[in-house]
Amino acid sequence: MNSTKAAPFYKGKSRIMGSLLEMEKDPAAFMDRMMHSYGEIVAFRMAHLNVILCIHPQAISHVLHENHMNYDKQVFDYKMMGDRLLGKGLLTNDGPFWLKQRRLAQPAFHRKRIEQYSAIMKKCTRDFIQRWHSMDGEVVDVSQEMASLTLRIVGLSLFGKDLTRESAEIGDALSGANHLLTRRIFSGLPSFVKFMPLDFRLRRASRRLVSIVDEIIAERKGQEDRYDDLLSMLMQARDESDRPMDASQLRDEVLTLLLAGHETTANALSWCFHLLSENPREQENLSADCKQILGTEIADFSAVPSLGYAQRVVEEAMRIYPPAWSIARRCKKDDEIMGYSVKANTLIFLSQLVTHRHPDFWDEPMEFRPSRFSEEEKKNRAPYAYFPFGGGPRLCIGADFAMIESVIILSALVAAFRLEGVKKEVRPELLITLRPEGGLPVKISRRQ
Ligand code: HEM
Repeated sequence: MNSTKAAPFYKGKSRIMGSLLEMEKDPAAFMDRMMHSYGEIVAFRMAHLNVILCIHPQAISHVLHENHMNYDKQVFDYKMMGDRLLGKGLLTNDGPFWLKQRRLAQPAFHRKRIEQYSAIMKKCTRDFIQRWHSMDGEVVDVSQEMASLTLRIVGLSLFGKDLTRESAEIGDALSGANHLLTRRIFSGLPSFVKFMPLDFRLRRASRRLVSIVDEIIAERKGQEDRYDDLLSMLMQARDESDRPMDASQLRDEVLTLLLAGHETTANALSWCFHLLSENPREQENLSADCKQILGTEIADFSAVPSLGYAQRVVEEAMRIYPPAWSIARRCKKDDEIMGYSVKANTLIFLSQLVTHRHPDFWDEPMEFRPSRFSEEEKKNRAPYAYFPFGGGPRLCIGADFAMIESVIILSALVAAFRLEGVKKEVRPELLITLRPEGGLPVKISRRQ
């Protein structure tokens, strides 16, 4: 006898579009409603697509980890992202070719390498703090500030290129692409429809980003062996037939790493500052802790493990405001998740934003409480109740890079400055990434 049951189905408000419009209007509110009404897993329809939202950590673990071979990235969101912006880089690729590329890039993210990058992180943070010293008492947009700092770090670490000069242009194009792509995905129109005004604007933003990447690659041509970084590794790689990576593939990989490698970390840091300015006592305690450990120094690699408090703040900020707030997969063959049957070709949706705030797994989920990430509490938590970097074989390649970088930057900045939010209401904006809507203006005051 077959004991699987159908997943509970939410009919949606529109007979034709199902729940597409509800999701488009306010995805956070829609998913929150689904979580409170269903708790584990829920099926719904978005226009012609059958969707299952996996809310329970066990269901997430099944998709990303235990049965990951049955879930690929042949879904509309990634197709659109690839088609319109990133090409076929690590994030959007799939199958054996993805694995080959992942193995090529992986050595650049080993701990030994990250130790080398941490010297760049430290130097860039020092320059950044010096600039902020001259802006004492001013209001800055922390979102933008963090984006240019993390862009400089990723550019220098992986591609040996200081992108400070290009930072405003990249920020502008990426922000545009982030908005346009989100609207384009929710339009529900298939990817081959390429004549919407949105598509033209997206193409313009993408062209600006690609031309910057082309410049980075052109500058390196002929000098590959003089550098020992990810760019040279990718340029020197040869396949079984001794052929180098073709030019468009190289461009896609560089663009992906450049964009995925800075925007998410910038958002994580922005949310840290937002939460710390809403919780001044926590900010003062963290500042005292960092000052006591670092004095007036900036952390290097060896100091990071002693900055446990700063690490817990970053983890807690990514719980409440996960910079990557959703993951999509296609179910390849009929399957069963937590006893519920799932048909082939169903779009599977996992959302950090939902599961990280699930009251069954998080006590008072909206309270900012870094102590949740003490070793003791972590040990008792269900796997995949927390997955800011995804999981399984497609786990974020830059997770360690991002954590070390965030701890170095956060500890140095809170030790040197007091940050006070000046905006009454800060709302998260659910684009491809989760950003503070309209930026995050903060008054910075130098500490004595
Ligand atoms: C706080 C910072 C970051 C967050 C929250 C984050 C989040 C994520 C998540 C959730 C995924 C999995 C997507 C999926 O399974 O569909 C991912 C993949 C990826 N991330 Fe990150 N990321 C961060 C930082 C970075 C950094 C610093 C880099 C590179 C320097 C990076 C590069 C990538 C790449 C290339 C992938 C695709 C990996 C693959 O599938 O092989 N990310 N990231």
